[in-house]
Amino acid sequence: MKKIVLSGIRPTGQLHLGNYLGALQKFVRMQQEGIYDSFFFIADLHALTTQPDPAVLHANVRHIVAEYLAAGLDPEKSTIFVQSDVPEIPELYLLLNMHVGIGELMRTAAFKDKARKQLGITVNKEGDDDSDVAREIIGNESNKRVNAGLLTYPTLMAVDILIQHADFVPVGKDQEQHLELTRRFARRFNSFYGVEYFKEPENFNFGGKPVKVPGLDGSGKMGKSEGNCIYLVDEDKALRKKVMRAVTDSGPTEPNQPMAEPIENLFTLLKLVSAPDVVEHFTTAYNNCEIRYGDLKKQLAEDILKITAPIRERTREIENDDEYLARVLKQGAEQARERASKTLSEVRQIMGITPFWK
Ligand code: TYM
Repeated sequence: MKKIVLSGIRPTGQLHLGNYLGALQKFVRMQQEGIYDSFFFIADLHALTTQPDPAVLHANVRHIVAEYLAAGLDPEKSTIFVQSDVPEIPELYLLLNMHVGIGELMRTAAFKDKARKQLGITVNKEGDDDSDVAREIIGNESNKRVNAGLLTYPTLMAVDILIQHADFVPVGKDQEQHLELTRRFARRFNSFYGVEYFKEPENFNFGGKPVKVPGLDGSGKMGKSEGNCIYLVDEDKALRKKVMRAVTDSGPTEPNQPMAEPIENLFTLLKLVSAPDVVEHFTTAYNNCEIRYGDLKKQLAEDILKITAPIRERTREIENDDEYLARVLKQGAEQARERASKTLSEVRQIMGITPFWK
């Protein structure tokens, strides 16, 4: 039996370098190893938690499927599908929610972050604890709403994973807490019903650490809501401009001086996209106080373009081929539903809701 790999990306816009280096690149490598049964999908139901414009959501799904294929995912080797094409997922989500606590969902970092944004609470106040979010939500002191879908986001993600019995879930560092919850829900289900049914999935990083791709604005991660993204479809000129504008400092004044965060971030990116001798060259230059950040950025931009430009070109070709995209997704949905429907009927049985009249 092959080990099962599964992962997904929300269609909230074009894919950025964080999505690629943290996730999509690993999907492609895992597919190429040829030893896994792999499932890669577009998490359109998850995208609904932030209430996108329907036309924009629709366009994003098409675009990301094209980016998946352009980056090297192959429908003959991997199952590529859209989450909402698998109706067994929402049904299992309802069932699993019966074993998930509101409190543990409210303590999830991603929920607190997004809920604070939706409620307009300033993030990271002095002495900030969880009570501000809880008070606002339960007290309903404002007219703002945090939708229930956002709260139960981790249940839906756990279902995506558990319904296919995935062993490995290649994701970036920011998704590790959701993965931890998935394992917890699997354990809880198994122990409640006294069965060894769900597996506990793990992240996969080819022996390395989970990746957190930084932004170029000095601190934090690259992310759509942070507005600091390099997109896979950025034109050469625009991409170079973004990299050349990256925040730096006035340069080291002493040999082997510790790096400030913006510089460390540039090196983190360099290590992800450039050859080891290039990294070595600039590290030595930094340690000898001879570094010219302009040269480093130029090199970084060219090395990023080596990765993104071919993907950008292929995305353009694929994106408008309706017939091909439809074929890929139809086949993917059928394959994904096969195992999903088996899991669902087994879970219904375990939970005792198989109708006795059948
Ligand atoms: P999403 O759509 O936010 O991100 C998709 C993938 O990109 C990774 N990523 C990053 N990795 C490193 N550095 C960054 N700056 C960076 N930004 C994004 C994310 O870690 C992720 O792997 N909840 C998921 C989607 C999902 C899912 C699933 C994933 C739904 N169901 C089941 C795996 C399995 C999400 O919001 O990813």
